[in-house]
Amino acid sequence: MSTVQQLSPREFKLITKFIYERTGIFIPDEKLALVSNRLRKRLRVLKLDGFMDYYDLMTSGGSEFEEEFPHFLSAVTTNETYFFRNARLWDLVSGDLLNELMELKARQKSLSVWSAACSSGAEAYSLAICLNEMRHKIRDWKLSIVGTDISSRVLDIAREGIYNEYAVSKCSDKRLKANFKKLDEDRYRLRDDIRKMAKFRFHNLRDRMKEKFDLVLLRNVMMYFDTPMKTKVVRSVAASMNTGALLYAGDVDPIRSTLDLNDFPEIEYVKPFIYRRTEAPSAA
Ligand SMILES: C[S@@+](CC[C@H](N)C(=O)[O-])C[C@H]1O[C@@H](n2cnc3c(N)ncnc32)[C@H](O)[C@@H]1O
Repeated sequence: MSTVQQLSPREFKLITKFIYERTGIFIPDEKLALVSNRLRKRLRVLKLDGFMDYYDLMTSGGSEFEEEFPHFLSAVTTNETYFFRNARLWDLVSGDLLNELMELKARQKSLSVWSAACSSGAEAYSLAICLNEMRHKIRDWKLSIVGTDISSRVLDIAREGIYNEYAVSKCSDKRLKANFKKLDEDRYRLRDDIRKMAKFRFHNLRDRMKEKFDLVLLRNVMMYFDTPMKTKVVRSVAASMNTGALLYAGDVDPIRSTLDLNDFPEIEYVKPFIYRRTEAPSAA
């Protein structure tokens, strides 16, 4: 059983380099104690003697790696999410944002939205609930909601559609009643037809998505990335947007606060947190 206390600077460097290369997640030196504490718990679970054994397992590329990778991610990031997180955004979504997109897509009668880095799906399903509430306006439209994340563990939870009290705590009573069935003290099951509106799959934000979307939500993930990765992510997200599509980047605006908007002619600033895809070609 492990008795190790803390990652040595060399072990920390190896592990943080590994995660950066796989995910773009940048872990600064000040996080050494935090990462040590979190990984020590994984050593205990896996009955490993030291951090180097853990590093070897992670870099083995075998099935043990596949199984451990989501736990590793959870140890170095947070998967926190809940329905209707940030009331300001959701007022905007069910008002101006969806209305503007409905006008834009009135001829095609199709709307595709992407919840990027969706964690366990509350964001994608909040969108599904908003769209369902507008059904009378878009009855014969083709709707597609895609939620993606790098962690298979959270994607499994998303597909199941069962949430605890905390995850639904920001749903109004009306929405809770209309969209969930209470299973027991702490568990709520999302209505089946709402659950079926969203599809979930693995996607690393480092890579490009093949399809294009009309609305992208990119929230509470960019803080894990350094500037080169943020640049890459904004560029590849913009490349996955139809002309006129909207991007909500928040809750702390990672584009205006840390990047130079002049580097991204393919998107224009609309108002706090909101960007629109222009016709300009993406930079390389
Ligand atoms: C804090 S959650 C945000 C969930 C949701 N967007 C929200 O705002 O409620 C951050 C998520 O980003 C995911 N993530 C981290 N790095 C990623 C990457 N390179 N590609 C895709 N997802 C990533 C994590 O697995 C985690 O589920």
